[in-house]
Amino acid sequence: MAVRVADGGAVKVGLLGCGTVGQAVVRSINEGGSTIERASGHRLVVGPILVRDPAKPRPGVDPSLITTDPKRVLDDPSVAIVIEVMGGLDPTLGYLRRALDRGASVVTANKQLLARHGPELLLAAEQSGAEIRFEASACAAIPVIKVLRESLLAAEITAVTGIVNGTTNFILTEMSRSGLSYADALARAQELGYAEPDPTEDVNGADAAAKMAIMASIAFHSRVRIDDVPHEGIDRLHAEDIEHARSLGFVVKLLGVARLVNGAVTARVYPALVPAGHRLAAIGGPDNAVLLESRNTGEIMLVGPGAGGAETASAVVADILSILGTHKGSFLHNALADAGRGIAPPGEVTSSFYLRMFVADRPGVLARIASVFGDEGLSIRSVVQSGSGDEARLVLIIHAGREERMDAAVERLGALEVVRGAPVMLRVLGDGEGGG
Ligand SMILES: NC(=O)c1ccc[n+]([C@@H]2O[C@H](COP(=O)([O-])OP(=O)(O)OC[C@H]3O[C@@H](n4cnc5c(N)ncnc54)[C@H](OP(=O)(O)O)[C@@H]3O)[C@@H](O)[C@H]2O)c1
Repeated sequence: MAVRVADGGAVKVGLLGCGTVGQAVVRSINEGGSTIERASGHRLVVGPILVRDPAKPRPGVDPSLITTDPKRVLDDPSVAIVIEVMGGLDPTLGYLRRALDRGASVVTANKQLLARHGPELLLAAEQSGAEIRFEASACAAIPVIKVLRESLLAAEITAVTGIVNGTTNFILTEMSRSGLSYADALARAQELGYAEPDPTEDVNGADAAAKMAIMASIAFHSRVRIDDVPHEGIDRLHAEDIEHARSLGFVVKLLGVARLVNGAVTARVYPALVPAGHRLAAIGGPDNAVLLESRNTGEIMLVGPGAGGAETASAVVADILSILGTHKGSFLHNALADAGRGIAPPGEVTSSFYLRMFVADRPGVLARIASVFGDEGLSIRSVVQSGSGDEARLVLIIHAGREERMDAAVERLGALEVVRGAPVMLRVLGDGEGGG
């Protein structure tokens, strides 16, 4: 590890760029500093930050760190890790070579740069003993690179199939669910911020091809560049074909597909019909998903947001931690890594609930039951009643509330003379689960 550690175990990181992702990285380091320190044994210090226009507002970023002089980030020996979140190929490639050549490690989110110049950057890192990490370059928050290069390193990956562009997935989802034309779905994506004003790279498949080149390189331990990845986009798709596909039991997705054919790598991007029951068919809206197939592990699918400042910053910070290593404060082995949070008493956890019970079918019963929930500070979302003789079955959904209050309500209900037998209670996933 070529990281130079300054006084007190502090590690200075410099940034190239401070836009959407850069600002989220600075926020994440400032807010998550103690977690990073507990895990790695190093305190991260944000150092110089290169931008084009120093006058732009950058909330939460110390203005004294902002510079337009690349030397302050690239050539300062106290900057141990250079984070590249400026994008583009030139001057970015030269900057990263310069940082790696002097032994600084590099974290980059730049898929186009890696998909074109990855091999030479990896070589430069190898020659100087520095590290280059690029988790954020493929599918932002989804930790697919780390899973491929570490967790599944020896798993013998046979195929990587992904929905790796959220913009096109959103457009296709809209075309399919609402019957919108391509142009209208694109306009809606732009309105909601899921598509750039110039969406060319997304809709023509070039963005997905860059990500597939990076993932195929890691999955198959090879060197795949974007020029090796033929890509078709969705810009020539007709709503009519999406409708025909639907009537035949398929959904249309823009897929990146990389696999081994007779020991050689093939990686391509194209719109494809996916059977409606396939797990990739369920990925809707701007989400990304990557299905990894391997001889040893079968299928593993990773799903999550493929863009966004905070999401991408999460991958950048994870890369910084990978470079520093967690051996000094491994979460399970080191007292320092214990945040001392304790265990929440079960009764304080909140959830929403399903309740089924049989009650006497006579006037006033529902009011008595409702008053029990009211007394416990719980509110009823829905009630379905079905009668059978002098008995009625009640099925209730209760809005999120503390479990201890629900337990008390169930006990009181069970003791009511109008309630027959013990009520059956199940928790409802998702709606207001948490602490309270
Ligand atoms: N946004 C996402 O959701 C996302 C997701 C995954 C990956 N990425 C990747 O992350 C990188 C950054 O994306 P972003 O959305 O944060 O971009 P952005 O908001 O446009 O920010 C770019 C930053 O780089 C600076 N910059 C650009 N060219 C420069 C140059 N030649 N010299 C000095 N500074 C320069 C800009 O300076 P000024 O502020 O002065 O203009 C700005 O601070 C890109 O490679 C992108 O592909 C982004």
